[in-house]
Amino acid sequence: MKQYQILVIGGDGIGTEVTTWGKKILEEIGNLYQIHFTFDTALLGHAAIEATGTPLPEETLTKARQANAILFGAIGHPMYDNDPSLKVRPEQGLLGLRKALGLYTNIRPIKLFDELLNASSIKPEILKGADILFFRELTGDVYFGEKARRDDGNTAYDMMIYSKYEVERIAHKAFQAAQKRRKILHSVDKANVLESSRLWRETVNEVAKQYPDVQLHHQFIDSAAMLLIKSPRMFDVVLTGNLFGDILTDEASQIAGSMGMLASASIGDSTGFYEPIHGSAPDIAGKGIANPLASILSVALLLEHSLDMKAQGQSIVEAVDRTLKQGYRTIDIADENTPKSHILGTDAMGAKVTEILKQVVSDLW
Ligand code: IPM
Ligand code: MG
Repeated sequence: MKQYQILVIGGDGIGTEVTTWGKKILEEIGNLYQIHFTFDTALLGHAAIEATGTPLPEETLTKARQANAILFGAIGHPMYDNDPSLKVRPEQGLLGLRKALGLYTNIRPIKLFDELLNASSIKPEILKGADILFFRELTGDVYFGEKARRDDGNTAYDMMIYSKYEVERIAHKAFQAAQKRRKILHSVDKANVLESSRLWRETVNEVAKQYPDVQLHHQFIDSAAMLLIKSPRMFDVVLTGNLFGDILTDEASQIAGSMGMLASASIGDSTGFYEPIHGSAPDIAGKGIANPLASILSVALLLEHSLDMKAQGQSIVEAVDRTLKQGYRTIDIADENTPKSHILGTDAMGAKVTEILKQVVSDLW
């Protein structure tokens, strides 16, 4: 039996609560499909600062490099948000790991489960059928450009910087994905103002020549942000830089009903990294009400992208779909029609999906 080593990093806030269920679902997949997973854990972010003084301990990096895939929770703590002068910050752990593992492609699928049409703040008739795949560049841009203070700290800058090769490698990935879908690609930039965006656009145009079957559109970030909620169905694959992608994907989470539903895959040169797009949500941490579905759906992406087990991943998506069809909701995706008996906490929702996953797999056989 083949053996896979999975590194589980719960991180901060609700990260640990939801990742517990991502891991349990993966264990269940192991049982159902006779796959041998072994698990290890590591620290990142605030939890790592508390324990070791640094947000990305060397041990975490070593374990990350050795694993077949990484399942991550969330990062961030209010104590740092309230004090911008702190030099050591949880987010540095996540950004450092993305950079060290060369995770330049962040894939964020935005797919609305039919049952959640009413959970979104956007009108159902606008949403129905929306299905968008974001390719967010993850190791460049203002996130990693030179940053500093000058004039005695009274002036600050973060350099928005991209090199051609960085745009090329993610553009290829996005075009290839578009070829397998509706063959429409929107590249989002701010080329009317930014030089880095002009290089981005030029490079995407060059790469496009190799994919004549894909329809390429360029969209400025401001109008893309508007169109995304005005007509989400016009988008198929969206390719964008690190900062614009960060903002647009949070916006797009409303298309999927809730941030609590969205999973993401970060892939590149080394171990793949899988995480919900939601943050550590300190306001609800420890209350047992966080939605574990994004972590569970992250496991589906992990199986597909790092272990080449798309069918197994699909059975998880099917289990989530059936759970929603049976009317079960966590509080963030419940609406006025959800009976109290069907509003579940984190553990009850995780257990429900696990139970339904067993049925899904037995129906397949
Ligand atoms: C995300 C998050 C991170 C980012 C933060 C926590 C550094 O918002 O993954 O979208 O900005 O990339
Ligand atoms: Mg974000």
